[in-house]
Amino acid sequence: IESKKQLIKENIRAYNDFPKPGIVFRDVFSILQNPELFSILRELLTFSAKSFEVKPDVIVGLDSRGFLFATLVALDLQVPFVPIRKKGKLPGPTKAASYTLEYGTDALEISTDAIGKGQNALIIDDLLGTGGTLQTACNLVKEVGGNISGCLLVIELKELNGKSKINYPVQSLVQY
Ligand code: PRP
Ligand code: HPA
Repeated sequence: IESKKQLIKENIRAYNDFPKPGIVFRDVFSILQNPELFSILRELLTFSAKSFEVKPDVIVGLDSRGFLFATLVALDLQVPFVPIRKKGKLPGPTKAASYTLEYGTDALEISTDAIGKGQNALIIDDLLGTGGTLQTACNLVKEVGGNISGCLLVIELKELNGKSKINYPVQSLVQY
């Protein structure tokens, strides 16, 4: 497991000064370009998803790169996939909340009827930065009546200290 995580870490390409000067952008798409690496990443995510103490009844994925990974895990675990989308994209009754990003501000939205009362949700995204996105997602899941098993990320940017904002179990596969 650790050597597979190391392999993923080594193959996530870094771009300096994108999208703004001073930011080192970690590009998870570099893994998806290689099916062997993508398969290993899928295996690591599903393995981690199964390791949470509270077993997930649903997988929640965050728009947009979180969807790439959350859907794979939902299929592997054979549980429903629920999207949290950027505001204005979901039909039907929704709850929305705004948040601050590493570079900008945005709002997220969830369908009010997507998670059953008391169902355990595992939230999956590609990257944990400041934690604003994940914190907002946690709040939305709670607001529509879900419990949170935990949160699973491919990448964690340690220096931004996002984990400190989250009061639930958080696992990341690779850290920078
Ligand atoms: C990125 C990333 C996370 C979030 C992390 O998403 O995919 O969702 O930022 O940042 P934070 O921890 O500082 O909140 P982005 O909003 O760029 O959306 P995208 O996945 O659609 O590219
Ligand atoms: N890489 C990819 N996505 C991001 C980053 C990053 O460094 N920071 C916030 N979203």
